[in-house]
Amino acid sequence: MCGIIAAASTRNVGKLLVQGLHRMEYRGYDSAGIALHQLDGVAHLRTLGKVQLLEDRMIEEKPRSKLGIAHTRWATHGEPSETNAHPHKSNDEVFIVHNGIIENHLELKAELEKEGYSFASQTDSEIIAHLLDFNLKQGMTMIEAMFASKKKLDGAYAIAAMHRDDESKLVIARQKSPLLIGLGTDEVFAASDPLAISQLTNDFIFLEDGDVAEISADTYKIFDAVDLEASREVSRIDISSQATSKGEYRHFMEKEIYEQPDALLNTIDGRISGEDVLDNIFGLGSTELFKKVERIQIVACGTSLHAGRVAANWLSAIAELPCQIDYASEYRYRNPHVDDNSILITISQSGETADTLAALNYAKEKNYLATVGICNVPTSTLARESDFVLFTNAGPEIGVASTKAFTTQLAALMLLTLSLAKARNLNPKLRQRVVTALRALPEIITQTLELKDSIIEMAPAIANKDNALFLGRGIFYPVAKEGALKLKEISYIHAEAYPAGELKHGPLALIDENMPVIALAPESEIAEKLVSNLEEVKARGGTLYVFSDPSVSIDVKSGSLVPMPKCDFLLTPIIYTIPLQILSYEVALLRGTDIDQPRNLAKSVTVE
Ligand code: M6R
Repeated sequence: MCGIIAAASTRNVGKLLVQGLHRMEYRGYDSAGIALHQLDGVAHLRTLGKVQLLEDRMIEEKPRSKLGIAHTRWATHGEPSETNAHPHKSNDEVFIVHNGIIENHLELKAELEKEGYSFASQTDSEIIAHLLDFNLKQGMTMIEAMFASKKKLDGAYAIAAMHRDDESKLVIARQKSPLLIGLGTDEVFAASDPLAISQLTNDFIFLEDGDVAEISADTYKIFDAVDLEASREVSRIDISSQATSKGEYRHFMEKEIYEQPDALLNTIDGRISGEDVLDNIFGLGSTELFKKVERIQIVACGTSLHAGRVAANWLSAIAELPCQIDYASEYRYRNPHVDDNSILITISQSGETADTLAALNYAKEKNYLATVGICNVPTSTLARESDFVLFTNAGPEIGVASTKAFTTQLAALMLLTLSLAKARNLNPKLRQRVVTALRALPEIITQTLELKDSIIEMAPAIANKDNALFLGRGIFYPVAKEGALKLKEISYIHAEAYPAGELKHGPLALIDENMPVIALAPESEIAEKLVSNLEEVKARGGTLYVFSDPSVSIDVKSGSLVPMPKCDFLLTPIIYTIPLQILSYEVALLRGTDIDQPRNLAKSVTVE
């Protein structure tokens, strides 16, 4: 998704801004651009494609400047192109970068066209530049023009703007799209992602919705939603640069897969003690809250939704609570009925997913007891806006494909399940069993990662196919869905997941020698039923690739069988996810795709 970085400094900022764009590349984008204030006007450079191309242009043209704004764009309105790339400008005077979507852009465009403005791009963002220019022409200062403009803009935005005639100040604004200020020495930054400026400062100010701010090298002023000067807390956060480098790995995704034993350890660390989960791990008062809960609603997107689907089984089995689960993008539109004593759980790696945040905001108007978030980014909007939150502590996840985020979300959701069961005085023996199993989990993940070589052997047979089917039953169906999502997003192979018992109700028609079938066969009460389903696949010429418990007897004929390490059944979804991540990674490697930044995708999906 789009990324903003802006700087006002006493030194040259061109290089800093481009480095910041590089650090946001993981978010996914299609073009990049920069506007730098110079004595003779504004250097305005935009390129389609990678930030490196913009950097090459900068090296050629050597613009020097102490004030500038820069952007990576992920197309929403208008195709990826140089003309649609940011910064956008009005009359060569006002330059802006924007994240988010201006919902009423067509209406505003018509108004501005009547005032004589013409539009160079197909974007919704360009109207912001013209709107500011129009307000300036009414005699306003830049900050007043931003106050007036925000009253006209509907939708979500993070904006950074500068004017050709002001060499020292930037104006920024935030509404439902992340934006923060970073305080350096003799320089002040703005960015949509703290990682963009993580090498420049550890002091961040997170703006609130409706905030507008003016920044210059030596000072900043923040104004709230009603344009009154406001003070906002400065948070000191060390975002380690080590966590954002690939080290010895070829891709961030690969690094993040192999980080899972440590990541899991960090998720459970300090949250369990002796034979049980600790009280109030979701924040002070959470244990009291959990005593009252009678029903749960989960909302999330993508991988995080799959984690929620696994957890719905745990919540029912261990905490004995009914649980409903929805795509965050659908939840608000089905007019949900909320029973008394319900809580809303949101799950999000980034904590900035627009659909999940919109569902959270919608839920605040309903009669939930509270909103509870599971999130990896402590500085995120979701973390700030939830009543209670548990951080997964997985460390930055840079690869677009979620790996350690998913397994740590599962561990966090198990902690939630245990907390609810404990608050409700339920299943002490089972809780004790799960806590012991959680402690053993990092070691079992390490053993699972050692299966890499057998998985690499499977990859060529899948890499040369156009389709793949993933099968699992019960709690393994969402794991199969996660496996299919991983394969499709990074290898571009069409992949679907089915509960194995559903095969004979339609999908069996797809089975032939060109349809690899990847199946999850842990030891369970329905293992035999799954084996029969796999026999049906074999009988129709399908090739089986099975990850199974050694006790489950399966003859895969010409396919492959990978015996999995033993693990408590309740936690096996975490373990069985890992070979599917490795398989997708190895298949994508063979197909030569852009693994960390797959086409058309973004890490943090900040538009609805
Ligand atoms: O940051 P979130 O967990 O809210 O992101 C939700 C989805 O966009 C995300 O899980 C996506 O499906 C994954 N990157 C897929 O690997």
